[in-house]
Amino acid sequence: MKTPAELFDLRGKHALVTGGGTGLGRAFALQLASSGASVTLAGRRMQPLEETAAAIHALGGTAHPVRLDVSDSGSVAAAFAALPAPADILVNNAGFAADAMLLDLPEDDWDAVFDANLKGAWLVARAAAQAMIAAGLRGSVINIASVLGSAVQKGTAPYAAAKAGLIHLTRGMALEWARHGIRVNAIAPGYYYTDMAAGYLDSDSGRAMVKRIPQRRLGDPADLGGALLLLASDASAYMTGSVVTVDGGLSLAVI
Ligand SMILES: NC(=O)c1ccc[n+]([C@@H]2O[C@H](COP(=O)([O-])OP(=O)(O)OC[C@H]3O[C@@H](n4cnc5c(N)ncnc54)[C@H](OP(=O)(O)O)[C@@H]3O)[C@@H](O)[C@H]2O)c1
Repeated sequence: MKTPAELFDLRGKHALVTGGGTGLGRAFALQLASSGASVTLAGRRMQPLEETAAAIHALGGTAHPVRLDVSDSGSVAAAFAALPAPADILVNNAGFAADAMLLDLPEDDWDAVFDANLKGAWLVARAAAQAMIAAGLRGSVINIASVLGSAVQKGTAPYAAAKAGLIHLTRGMALEWARHGIRVNAIAPGYYYTDMAAGYLDSDSGRAMVKRIPQRRLGDPADLGGALLLLASDASAYMTGSVVTVDGGLSLAVI
């Protein structure tokens, strides 16, 4: 029987976190580094990646920024060629939401939301899984979905549909890759104050929503650390295709 410290130990593991320079991705990267993993931070803007890498170095960890547009297969190939080592852990976190009602939504916005949140997650997970298989690694893929993957809210329908797709894609990947020793699970966060969510959370409807959260507060990115470490580590060795909701109870009640 492993001790709790052994169960969650990530020393010697390499983690790739997409969107790792900001918001939840930055918190995921710091948590993984605190647990002993070396971390590659990937995104389109280098500055936030370099700032997060510096924060990890300041804690005594190892971090490596790499430019990546998850929606572009050429960029995915170039980023994987630049990785210092195959990833044992992939946190598929890059994403964003278009803020428009379906009647007014431009087609380009629909495509951009699906390309980043759904197609991009597949492109990156496919590249990571191919590298894990080639290196003989028993890896863990963690897809960052949303409570909006199983509920809807006005003005976010393409994002919600893409996250619903990501939850089902998680199950498809889990089913196909179990034979290679690769586990694939998802985290469905509720609401957290980040660049992406700030506009909504600062609005009247956002403030009203916070009052409906049973725990009566927004999530702190640190609240996701337990679910992240569970899914990244041997503590979840027999979990694959699962969705872990971390939302303060928001998704429990119909009204
Ligand atoms: N905040 C919440 O309440 C909440 C709730 C549920 C789920 N989520 C999910 O959590 C994840 C992180 O969001 P966040 O709240 O932390 O927002 P955020 O701070 O805006 O982070 C999003 C990150 O994704 C990266 N990104 C976006 N498009 C990308 C692309 N095409 N290629 C590579 N990187 C890309 C961005 O970096 P670059 O712009 O530099 O590329 C950025 O670092 C998202 O998947 C989001 O859907 C958030």
